Amino acid sequence: MLELRDIRKTFNLGTPTPNPALRGISLRLEAGEFVTVIGSNGAGKSSLLNAIAGTFPIDNGQININGAEVTTWPEYKRANLIGRVFQDPMMGTAAAMTIEENLAMAIKRGEKRGLARGTNAQLRSKFKEYLGELGLGLENRLSDKVKLLSGGQRQSLALIMATMSRPKLLLLDEHTAALDPKTAEQVSQLTNTIVEQYGLTVLMITHNMEHALNTGTRTIMLHEGKIILDISGPQRADMTIADLLQEFSRVRGEQLVDDRLLLA
Ligand SMILES: Nc1ncnc2c1ncn2[C@@H]1O[C@H](COP(=O)(O)OP(=O)(O)O)[C@@H](O)[C@H]1O
Ligand SMILES: [Mg+2]
Repeated sequence: MLELRDIRKTFNLGTPTPNPALRGISLRLEAGEFVTVIGSNGAGKSSLLNAIAGTFPIDNGQININGAEVTTWPEYKRANLIGRVFQDPMMGTAAAMTIEENLAMAIKRGEKRGLARGTNAQLRSKFKEYLGELGLGLENRLSDKVKLLSGGQRQSLALIMATMSRPKLLLLDEHTAALDPKTAEQVSQLTNTIVEQYGLTVLMITHNMEHALNTGTRTIMLHEGKIILDISGPQRADMTIADLLQEFSRVRGEQLVDDRLLLA
């Protein structure tokens, strides 16, 4: 479903302070894989998702989504294949529009797929039915403006909108990080429900180590723009949070050693 070959991206190239954010990332995701992505601040996690979404052109490498080589496609063209949710609940939804208007907008993206065809009344009842199934209490608030919703409800709506047209790939960038713990847990649950329901292929960045290991089917760790850990199956099942933290300090420790060597 997704194939990345030797993706490289250096920001501020040609300046005195080039910043190599992605330093040769290769990754293959089968359809239905749910990969959690971890790594310390600045490791390149968001840059990786941005590179896949086409937010900026990459310097090297190839990106394939669902068999199409999209490396040179502009972001808007890739948007038909990709659903995204960001950390900021304000980003995925339009505050001044109603829930129904937001959903209608999201569905247009997928046009020929799913619920897109139908009259407004038909759409409205489908929205109601779908929201009702998800148990968020939003089904009777279709005419409410989104700005009236809580952060968690907005983020839930953003998730619904991002997945409504059944994207080939769902990219989640710490989408529960700005929420209080209880709300974050609810949005995580909703994420699992929707991913399972549609059998989506997912890359989810999280700084929650427990989520990283317990959610999805596979975990990768980024460090200085490279994948330094890629676990699934029994190896992942045996991995503990303590093991992961040890891995973090191990790579940081090596970095310290390197720095000392450089200084010496
Ligand atoms: N659009 C950009 N322009 C310049 N530098 C960027 C841009 N996006 C990210 N960076 C830099 O790339 C590095 C990796 O950032 P990022 O991918 O956001 O890390 P993470 O999400 O793992 O915290 C950082 O040094 C960051 O400052
Ligand atoms: Mg980030």
